[in-house]
Amino acid sequence: MIDFATQLTNLLGPEFSREGLDPNLAEVRRSARPDLGDFQCNGALAGAKQKGENPRALADRLLESLRGQSLLRETSVAGPGFINLALSDAALAAQANRLAEDPRSGLVPVTQPLRVLVDFAGPNVAKPMHVGHLRATVIGDSLQRIARALGHQVTSDAHFGDWGLQIGLLIISLEDEQPNLPYFRADYDESMFVEEPPVTMEDLDRMYPAASARMKEEVAYRDRARKATAELQKGRAGYLALHTHFWKVSKFALEREFTALNIHFDLWKGESDVNYLIEDLVTRARESGVAVPSEGALVIQVAREQDKKEIPPLLLVSSEGSAMYGTTDLATIVEREREVKPDLFLYVVDQRQAMHFVQVFRAAQAAGLSEESRLEHIGFGTMNGTDGKPFKTRSGGVIKLHDLITSCRERASEKMDEGGFGKELSAEEREKTALMVGTAALKFADLSNYRLTDYVFDMDRFTSFEGKTGPYLQFQGVRVKSLLRKAAEQGFGEAPIQVILPEEKALVLALDGFNGAVHMAFDKRAPHFVAEHVFTLAQAFSTFWVASPKILEEKDDAVRGSRLRLARAVLTQLELGLGLLGIEIPERM
Ligand code: ARG
Repeated sequence: MIDFATQLTNLLGPEFSREGLDPNLAEVRRSARPDLGDFQCNGALAGAKQKGENPRALADRLLESLRGQSLLRETSVAGPGFINLALSDAALAAQANRLAEDPRSGLVPVTQPLRVLVDFAGPNVAKPMHVGHLRATVIGDSLQRIARALGHQVTSDAHFGDWGLQIGLLIISLEDEQPNLPYFRADYDESMFVEEPPVTMEDLDRMYPAASARMKEEVAYRDRARKATAELQKGRAGYLALHTHFWKVSKFALEREFTALNIHFDLWKGESDVNYLIEDLVTRARESGVAVPSEGALVIQVAREQDKKEIPPLLLVSSEGSAMYGTTDLATIVEREREVKPDLFLYVVDQRQAMHFVQVFRAAQAAGLSEESRLEHIGFGTMNGTDGKPFKTRSGGVIKLHDLITSCRERASEKMDEGGFGKELSAEEREKTALMVGTAALKFADLSNYRLTDYVFDMDRFTSFEGKTGPYLQFQGVRVKSLLRKAAEQGFGEAPIQVILPEEKALVLALDGFNGAVHMAFDKRAPHFVAEHVFTLAQAFSTFWVASPKILEEKDDAVRGSRLRLARAVLTQLELGLGLLGIEIPERM
């Protein structure tokens, strides 16, 4: 099925062409002035300018052959030459019924599916996840869901940070704590490996911040960590064994958190997984002259003449001989080109890393590893505390994902109590629902802002059942579910949708906007278009509900059946739309 905006654009396009104008000028959008029409097209203004004539006269001519179209009730020209289009009731009802029958709720897949690689979350082994990782996780997951819904072939990868200095730091810190472990012996070999990890997640959480602080004070300590990192990367067996242990311990904790958030990756790869490609990558880059020596290190120059600000070179090999953050990113591109062959790479990473990605993408192009045009950094702003700075815990530390999830769930549970929700649920169901609500609060708060906008973390507002929040949206869905359950209990069936009330018309128009919103969200790599859409839909439903509160008491079978079908269509779309944001609707609450 085709949404109204597209149908109307398709009607007007040929009229623009007939006038010798670009048919892209025919773009039709929902009207900003619903009193004048349901949709509008502003292309006559630009068209008339090109032709050097009066826009109103052009608009009138463009509309001539549209008069009498069954789709339209009325057409008019307003102001300097805005075209207004009002839909006929029959067209609205027919579209509503098509939407209700469509399990995809009007969403039309792309005609040319792409292979899309989404690199998101990027948690680091040993280092706690901070709110930047949380945003990357929530936005990246939504983008993978949106891309899949549009028919793209998606591969998502968590791209663990597990090959940098933090591992070297952990190694030396563990060596100081447990010097007798076999992994530190010069003659270590695999037969000495002990299955049981020498550390727990709690140990790592304790060790890393301490070691990191000490490194900033003591040059010798930092040098030791760097040396350990270089040795690890060169393949020292005992260190590799420790790396495996750290990885397993971290992964276990992260998997638990991501599962709680209902977030999944196709690949759980890390920087270390491409180590086998680095030597060859570096050799080729050096031999071809793409990489050049600089102060004992090896770099790739990526500055360009037209640059407005200085773009420093990418550090390929440090003076200690270590591969750097950019090096593993380049090697990962090589592997992805071989194994996934993406048409598009999306890197969902904090905007503060924008420079890193400019360097990596240009270096990848220069070294012939990929094409810059297929590599995109999808940056985002920060989640701030009330002080306007990146969110911290009360003690000033970075928040742990686990604690964040827990506090969201607890706050959601309190709000459910306050609002009298979930009274009839069993203790177990209630716990599950509280997690669903808390997660929805967190995700929707993040995704309802344009990704590059910073926002303030305000758990109290996020978990409210009123306002523009995840829980409010879930509540609208739960309302429909309960209505449909009761209707089924009373044996009431559905009937073809009739558009009688103005609130019904508004609801049908809202439903019809889904397809456009999802495509826009992918095109702009911005899930807030979907968030905005589901919120508009939920509000339109809520208004309809107020206007027609007693659906089940309606005596006329046709009218009741129509409203039930309309409500079900709303639920389908709410579920799909919220699903694209990674939010589920509970059965009851
Ligand atoms: N681990 C990185 C960090 O914590 C994020 C990784 C982002 N992805 C990438 N391909 N560089 O900053």
